[in-house]
Amino acid sequence: MSLHGRDVISIRDLSREEIEEILASARKMVPYAEGKKVMHPLEDKIVAMAFFEPSTRTRLSFESAVQRLGGSCITIADAGASSMRKGESLYDTIRMLSGYAEAIVIRHPNEGSARLAARASDRPVVNAGDGAGQHPTQTLLDLATMQESFDTLTGLKIVLLGDLKYGRTVHSLAHALALFGSEIVLSSPPGLGLPDEVIERLEHMGGKVTAEPDLRKAVRDSDVLYVTRIQKERFPDESDYRKVAGSYRIDASVLRDAKPRLIVMHPLPRAGEISPEVDDTPHAAYFRQAFLAVPVRMALLNAVLGEGKKGG
Ligand code: NCD
Repeated sequence: MSLHGRDVISIRDLSREEIEEILASARKMVPYAEGKKVMHPLEDKIVAMAFFEPSTRTRLSFESAVQRLGGSCITIADAGASSMRKGESLYDTIRMLSGYAEAIVIRHPNEGSARLAARASDRPVVNAGDGAGQHPTQTLLDLATMQESFDTLTGLKIVLLGDLKYGRTVHSLAHALALFGSEIVLSSPPGLGLPDEVIERLEHMGGKVTAEPDLRKAVRDSDVLYVTRIQKERFPDESDYRKVAGSYRIDASVLRDAKPRLIVMHPLPRAGEISPEVDDTPHAAYFRQAFLAVPVRMALLNAVLGEGKKGG
């Protein structure tokens, strides 16, 4: 694999073999991510965090990953605190940042912005979420979580629940699940289904995709329940959001007929979709999932930044 110097904008930028190698490397990174072992391959490297949209886990786990690898970070944590407030374009901001750091991690509210950033930068760019578009590193850590629980990514049955229209995590994840040969069950409130072009692409890849709006039925013989938050901030009209707000909630009663080994995942933050009573059940995998962000992002950055040149 050579991810050296490459941009990671969409999960489709990575082959199945490349994903498998990142996951294998991430497993080895766990004791380093926990601070039990030390390695500093990025000692002389700076990674810029350009976050123009709210973030807790993604930014902090990227920062933790860089620092665990011995590198350092420079950070825009808030668009309002950068010169974009003065009207600077994204292109100029990123082009300038690429002179300050060996790689750039970007999150931005507009779909396509990470691809634009990659054109502006002569350093590798990693997409940490572009609007309703893609969130490839979330997918890598989602896969790591499933692999840790089931030892495989093939032949699983995964329910994608919630806002499949605006949720970028599921846009990336669905592709990877089809790539690895797992079955996808779509369950969403009216109007929030997976976009047609995404479904067509999955089917074109030979992916097995079905829909099951009845949550209890969907859960019954599944291995993973992947819950998402309704992406309130992406609704053009707040009244449409109000129609679907609170339309699903995972609690003990929903999980009553689930397989004992079913895991409940969520990219977080949750906003009422999973009742806290689930947290103490063996089904809850979301906090482990959030931790795995660190070793997975360490593995990715280590692969991308080894030699620091673009296109290498
Ligand atoms: C997700 C995101 O930003 O897309 N969060 C994350 O990165 N862990 C999901 C969300 O905001 O609902």
